[in-house]
Amino acid sequence: MKFGHFDDDAREYVITTPRTPLPWINYLGSEAFFSLVSHTAGGYSFYKDAKLRRITRYRYNNVPADSNGRYYYIKEGSTIWNPGWQPTQTELDFYECRHGLGYSIITGKKNGLAARLELFVPVGDNCEIDRLVLTNESDAPKSFTVFSYVEFCLWNAVDDSTNFQRNFSTGEVEVEGSTIYHKTEYRERRDHYALYTVNAPVDGFDTSRDAFLGAWRSNANPEVVEKGACTNSVAHGWAPVGVHQINVTLNPGESRSLIYMLGYIENPQEEKWAAPGVINKTRAHELMARYATDAQVDEALAKLHAHWNNLLSTYAVRSSDEKLDRMVNIWNQYQCMVTFNMSRSASYYESGTGRGMGFRDSCQDLLGFVHLIPARARERILDIAATQFPDGSAYHQYQPLTKKGNMDVGSGFNDDPLWLIAAVYAYLGETGDMSILDEQVDFDNDHTLAQPLLEHLRRSFGYLTTHKGPHDLPLIGRADWNDCLNLNCFSDTPGESFQTTGPSEGPVAESVFIAGMYVKYGNEFAEILEATGHADEAAAVRKEVAGMEHAALTAGWDGKWFRRAYDAYGHVVGGQECEEGQIFIEPQGMCVMAGIGVDTGEAVTALQSVQTRLDTKYGIVLLQPAYTKYHLELGEISSYPPGYKENAGIFCHNNPWVSCAETVVGHGDRAFEIYKKTCPAYIEDISEIHRTEPYVYSQMVAGCDAATFGEAKNSWLTGTAAWTFVDVSQYILGIQPTLAGLKIDPCLPHEMDGFTLRRVWRGATYEITVDNTAHAEKGVASMTVNGQPVPTNTLSPAPAGTTVQVKVVMG
Ligand code: GLC
Ligand code: GLC
Repeated sequence: MKFGHFDDDAREYVITTPRTPLPWINYLGSEAFFSLVSHTAGGYSFYKDAKLRRITRYRYNNVPADSNGRYYYIKEGSTIWNPGWQPTQTELDFYECRHGLGYSIITGKKNGLAARLELFVPVGDNCEIDRLVLTNESDAPKSFTVFSYVEFCLWNAVDDSTNFQRNFSTGEVEVEGSTIYHKTEYRERRDHYALYTVNAPVDGFDTSRDAFLGAWRSNANPEVVEKGACTNSVAHGWAPVGVHQINVTLNPGESRSLIYMLGYIENPQEEKWAAPGVINKTRAHELMARYATDAQVDEALAKLHAHWNNLLSTYAVRSSDEKLDRMVNIWNQYQCMVTFNMSRSASYYESGTGRGMGFRDSCQDLLGFVHLIPARARERILDIAATQFPDGSAYHQYQPLTKKGNMDVGSGFNDDPLWLIAAVYAYLGETGDMSILDEQVDFDNDHTLAQPLLEHLRRSFGYLTTHKGPHDLPLIGRADWNDCLNLNCFSDTPGESFQTTGPSEGPVAESVFIAGMYVKYGNEFAEILEATGHADEAAAVRKEVAGMEHAALTAGWDGKWFRRAYDAYGHVVGGQECEEGQIFIEPQGMCVMAGIGVDTGEAVTALQSVQTRLDTKYGIVLLQPAYTKYHLELGEISSYPPGYKENAGIFCHNNPWVSCAETVVGHGDRAFEIYKKTCPAYIEDISEIHRTEPYVYSQMVAGCDAATFGEAKNSWLTGTAAWTFVDVSQYILGIQPTLAGLKIDPCLPHEMDGFTLRRVWRGATYEITVDNTAHAEKGVASMTVNGQPVPTNTLSPAPAGTTVQVKVVMG
């Protein structure tokens, strides 16, 4: 069952009923001002950091779900409705929400009145624009009143929802004409305020939530709207809101547009005040003047569309499969941008109050984004590396506002350091900009400890080289990629964090997954060293890598698949002798991607085991058999009910690893089958089972052991976005940026006749045609560049600005 459809020409997903299984959302903004917007206009806004600089309030764990947003109420006679249906839930005559690239358009109609709400964050400014266009589609004049509504957050979203003894007394606003300024704490240490305005004179306003809603009511039935008149309240403490009242009369066929803006302003310390107690509004006036007319808003929208056209022109495929094209060209890259901006901080599952930017999460997000905006990838790499500890290990996350590491989920996740190599290699392959390696970068944000970025990579690799266990495999620390494999935690206290408890004394637990990473990213590090004239060091790195490969194929090999780990007692995790959790997905994908066992047969055997033991119709589950009881020595993984999350859920993030791995051994059919199983566009028809947005990936789909097999959770912010894009763009379609050049090595389902693809790489445009009329799964039989046969399938960079015609014949 579907709740809408794709509109590929407009690059939109069109939701045709407000009654979706869950809120289906979009992200506005890609620089500093961000908004989440659901298909019913729910969601919230923040500046840079969803925890520390929250602009509007959102209610977690609320019923009904998705409570609070920017709401526009229309009162015509005794009928009160919202174009986005929420929060009044008045039945609409027509409803539609179009989520597009950086904007959403929600249209509602009632009794011959149409309300079209366009929401976006303009490029280059810190505000959200909500343009509401009202059209009288009836044949009689109409008079009605429009009430707008946002509820301000007192900046720190955690403090805002906990520190009531203070916060009920601090709220302050100013009202000037049609503009409501939210200035809580501005009088003391803050130099920023928010504003909510409309480009028309108002017939009233409210800034006190109590005055607007009335006692014992909710935003589903505000008293002011019911009565049809604002009270011009000025908030002192309690809950400041922004409400404008505008009375409208429209003749038949007539339209009126109202441009609302939610803005954020920072003032320099010495320019904070216009007069004692009166905030300096100069910057606010300038901002409002930029979006005061329809022409200005149209121009800003055109600029936003151009921004996206430009971004998405870097990689575009045309094949015979419209779902593939739709995901590659539009939605997968779009989601990569959003994960790059948000990491795991703010979604409808990530509250925005917990996590900042993850060290490894952001490194992986970069793999899917680096081709879109290399300059921002560069900046991100330097930010992440600056939080690294001098010994090469890492804080697990850092706060986007301060760019400083924090200990909220601790450190000592021993895969973290290697992801930095992955990110830097991807950046170098994309740009060829070796100068980044010479950048002086702090350790632990301490300038006195700064070293060139190359030294950071050296310490990343060195950390794992010097932290091996009894089987010569890397020590796992608190956990590796799998946050829930806490082999040194031994927690028996309810509520204790699995990630910051322990490690127990003298932890020896080891990870085969990290061994795979060590080989893959160790080889990439060696390539970087070779390219920068460190041949001896590169040789030493390759020797270490060979040793690790051996350990993975001996202590790490279980006979039919790669083991997962050794626990703190030295017992195998993920082996045949285990009662539960005999086989895990992660080491199979990572070790084969690293090339381990490809020549000697283990790789193919491991992938066959994945297919027979872990595959389901909705994707590959993380492990089998699921843990049915809590294992003290394994940690959080066994705390989840069977089939959910890391305990045998379909963790979408590592499905593409297996798909990539299948291409490494040349299995194009299987690689594509895996790709399709979790790919949103291919499962749109089961939206009632899947439940999350059919245009983006979710972190997890309930596995076959779960009561709700096939149900997804945690949409949007997941490493799945980046990894599936890496899978489909580099491994399946096979366009791989490497240090040596642009390698073209597709691995396709045999029935696909080929495709054409446009790839902008290091300033030149490559128009690539792949001919697979031979119906091969892998292998380049011949290749021409601008009509000339070439001996290799790796292209050297062409001069920037040129267009290169590449013809590839598979066979
Ligand atoms: C979540 C985390 C990520 C972790 C994964 C598996 O997606 O953000 O860091 O690797 O879960 O536990
Ligand atoms: C990851 C996991 C989740 C776990 C969390 C701990 O997000 O997916 O299951 O609870 O990490 O931080």
